[in-house]
Amino acid sequence: MLPFASCLPGSLLLWALLLLLLGAASPQDSEEPDSYTECTDGYEWDPDSQHCRDVNECLTIPEACKGEMKCINHYGGYLCLPRSAAVINDLHGEGPPPPVPPAEHPHPCLPGYEPDEQESCVDVDECAQALHDCRPSQECHNLPGSYQCTCPDGYRKIGPECVDIDECRYRYCQHRCVNLPGSFRCQCEPGFQLGPNNRSCVDVNECDMGAPCEQRCFNSYGTFLCRCHQGYELHRDGFSCSDIDECSYSSYLCQYRCVNEPGRFSCHCPQGYQLLATRLCQDIDECESGAHQCSEAQTCVNFHGGYRCVDTNRCVEPYVQVSDNRCLCPASNPLCREQPSSIVHRYMSITSERSVPADVFQIQATSVYPGAYNAFQIRAGNSQGDFYIRQINNVSAMLVLARPVTGPREYVLDLEMVTMNSLMSYRASSVLRLTVFVGAYTF
Ligand SMILES: *[C@@H]1O[C@H](CO)[C@@H](O)[C@H](O)[C@H]1NC(C)=O
Ligand SMILES: *[C@@H]1O[C@H](CO)[C@@H](O)[C@H](O)[C@H]1NC(C)=O
Repeated sequence: MLPFASCLPGSLLLWALLLLLLGAASPQDSEEPDSYTECTDGYEWDPDSQHCRDVNECLTIPEACKGEMKCINHYGGYLCLPRSAAVINDLHGEGPPPPVPPAEHPHPCLPGYEPDEQESCVDVDECAQALHDCRPSQECHNLPGSYQCTCPDGYRKIGPECVDIDECRYRYCQHRCVNLPGSFRCQCEPGFQLGPNNRSCVDVNECDMGAPCEQRCFNSYGTFLCRCHQGYELHRDGFSCSDIDECSYSSYLCQYRCVNEPGRFSCHCPQGYQLLATRLCQDIDECESGAHQCSEAQTCVNFHGGYRCVDTNRCVEPYVQVSDNRCLCPASNPLCREQPSSIVHRYMSITSERSVPADVFQIQATSVYPGAYNAFQIRAGNSQGDFYIRQINNVSAMLVLARPVTGPREYVLDLEMVTMNSLMSYRASSVLRLTVFVGAYTF
């Protein structure tokens, strides 16, 4: 262990040994710096002076010399001498201790370097070899010949330790800042997203990013709005649209029937009618439009909601047809004596529930004889008194609807005109056979 820890009996031997030892300890080349962390036995590294420092074994080894021997410290070792022995030298003078070469390193390297196999000096990675004294909070950076203790990014040195910098104190972020160990992160309010610089917040176009609007989406600063197409209304949830039932709003939207449809409504008309100007129903004149099924021998009669095919020849014995709608009872026929001399067929159509009284048909005498007087009456077909006649003058009268009637219904009224001439004691009767169709509807 110690190169020599021997007890020498005599001073002669001591001196010889001492000289030998001094010779061995003398530096080979004193110009070489003497900073080596590895020291030969008996020396220890002194980081302050960057030298190998002699260990005073006399102080550090208990009972280094036994018995009557006294311990003399010496470079690289110590001596045990008889108490009477005198040591005369100036080795412990004021001069610097002689440099001590590292025993195992014939080519010493600068501090922070070490020889490799080829005996050239290479840098010691103090960080990798845990030869540093950086704090756990610090980072060790190896440098050529030495190393450095630094704080990681986002930390700064306070005292010996590295402390996280609260970047949020410096208002880096437009909206919100979250401090993190060693860094920070900006966050944006809902409706915004971080800009390319990761600090400012830019509006998110939610409409382009799958905003849950069912129909229409409008982006606005920081948010978005859902809207609905016409005919829809926005649900309370603000996203979905529900169809507006326009028909429930008003019964006047359509004259006949309102049909709600997604986003709109439409008016419908009963059979025999056509839609006029979106809400009104207009009777289809099948006779006019040619949409009827009447034969050649028939006449087409249009009425509200339909039509009727009537035989063109409607004359019943003893009447004979004289024109399309006129039947005559020949005076020569005895059967005609008590009958109206002529029956003229007419057709008309009225709507249901007309306000009454309502003038519905005017009768006009076609031929006027001087001094004659024409009287008008309903001869048949008015058993319930739904009509009455209002005489206008000698030659005309008005058929008046007396009661509101509801169709579909049909009256065949015989309106008689009696012509009297007191002067010539002449009396003649003719009948207008009026068929009144009452439609099912008020239109
Ligand atoms: C913003 O953050 C992203 C993700 O963390 C990163 O990839 C990007 O480089 C950052 N941009 C800037 C300008 O810092
Ligand atoms: C109507 O009858 C009266 C008599 O009853 C007669 O004086 C008058 O001339 C007649 N008027 C017409 C227009 O025939």
